[in-house]
Amino acid sequence: MTDPIGIDAITFSLPRSYVDLGDLAEARGVAADKYRLGLGVSQMAIAAGDEDPVSLAAAAGSRLLATSGRDPREIGFCAVGTETAVDHSKPVSSYVHGLLGLPSRCRVFETKHACFGATAALLSATEWIASGAARGRSALIIASDIARYEVGSPGEPTQGAGAVAMLVSARPRLVELEIGRSGSFARDVHDFWRPLHRKDALVDGKFSVQCYLDALAHAYRDWKEQFAGDEPLARTCYHVPYGKMAHKAHRMRCSLDGLDEAAADRDFETTVAPSLRFSAQVGNIYAGSLYLALASLLDAEAAALEGRRIGLFSYGSGCAAEFFAGRVAPGAAAMVASLELAAPLAPGARARLTIPAYEALRRDDVAADRRASEASSERPFAFLGVDPAERRRYMSPRE
Ligand code: HMG
Repeated sequence: MTDPIGIDAITFSLPRSYVDLGDLAEARGVAADKYRLGLGVSQMAIAAGDEDPVSLAAAAGSRLLATSGRDPREIGFCAVGTETAVDHSKPVSSYVHGLLGLPSRCRVFETKHACFGATAALLSATEWIASGAARGRSALIIASDIARYEVGSPGEPTQGAGAVAMLVSARPRLVELEIGRSGSFARDVHDFWRPLHRKDALVDGKFSVQCYLDALAHAYRDWKEQFAGDEPLARTCYHVPYGKMAHKAHRMRCSLDGLDEAAADRDFETTVAPSLRFSAQVGNIYAGSLYLALASLLDAEAAALEGRRIGLFSYGSGCAAEFFAGRVAPGAAAMVASLELAAPLAPGARARLTIPAYEALRRDDVAADRRASEASSERPFAFLGVDPAERRRYMSPRE
């Protein structure tokens, strides 16, 4: 029998500020319940000028190595999934490789497919280990993004920012993945896109919801026909652009299993809701959203889920989707406790931005890319600005 392969450790990092969606609703003249209940979001993380996908990714990776007790020298594969990369050529993963002091004998790359990018990296890492190429080493997979839509647009309350880092290895301590057993679906659609010159994404909102649900139906059917077997899924984590989308997704999936809406809604409270607590306080973090849901689920229920099978659904606009499954590892609860998963959301860990301060940050962001951020330059991994040769500079804790 071969060793199980999967997620050994997980952590996330967030920007230091957030917007309360009650404040945003008031400023936009919208009922607060539309955001809280209609979308299922209460806060969204907002990145400042010195926080970018590199600094968020490095912070998440550094926290992962520190809390999991893993030595950076064990890493032989480092991939960052992002759709908000900082350069058309140099990958976020190269910056992360340097900032974390990873070994030079390491496969390092960035993946992009909207919110699916980190899943592509995660599945590649499991296959790298299964092929024998890892030779005992582990993979560091990081999903890092800043989700942005135009100020005042319908997408505005579904923004967010953050990075999720995962250690992938043989004999994982959190989730053993079912390798090579995904249901997949892809189609060329324009539901959500971001031309190279833009910082804010463009989206056909209602169409994007339909594309997500269609992709789920196809990927889930594909998985169910081939790999579901007789063991039901105790819980399912979905890609979470906002909590209500996961609710719609679960209804769709349950309908394919022959359940009516009332039964699906009852099932949702047990099998999906625990995975949505973190994202309700963070918003959409694109590539990391599914894995933030997994972190939320493990934080809430790892002890009860040890040995049980869970489902994972990844969706990236454009579009690509996979449905796959794993098993919560024996002893996962003890590992979860040592990772202190909820620490980035602890009271006092973040500051609440006023709406004028948030709008000022958004007006200022092009200038922020150009200059050093003097006020916060002591923060590890802070983006310090670009030098005269347009090279990005970061505060390295190792300098
Ligand atoms: P909207 O115009 O705010 O939609 O846009 P709405 O008016 O239909 O309202 C949303 C919900 O609030 C509705 O519930 C209303 O009934 C409810 P639903 O019918 O959906 O169940 N509502 C209320 N509820 C309680 N009290 C009230 C109240 N008023 C209304 N007073 C939309 C919503 C999501 C379209 C918009 O925010 C948007 O465009 N967001 C960005 C796109 C997005 O997140 N799409 C999700 C699927 S695509 C995806 O997940 C990929 C993505 O992550 C990108 C990637 O892959 O990289 C986005």
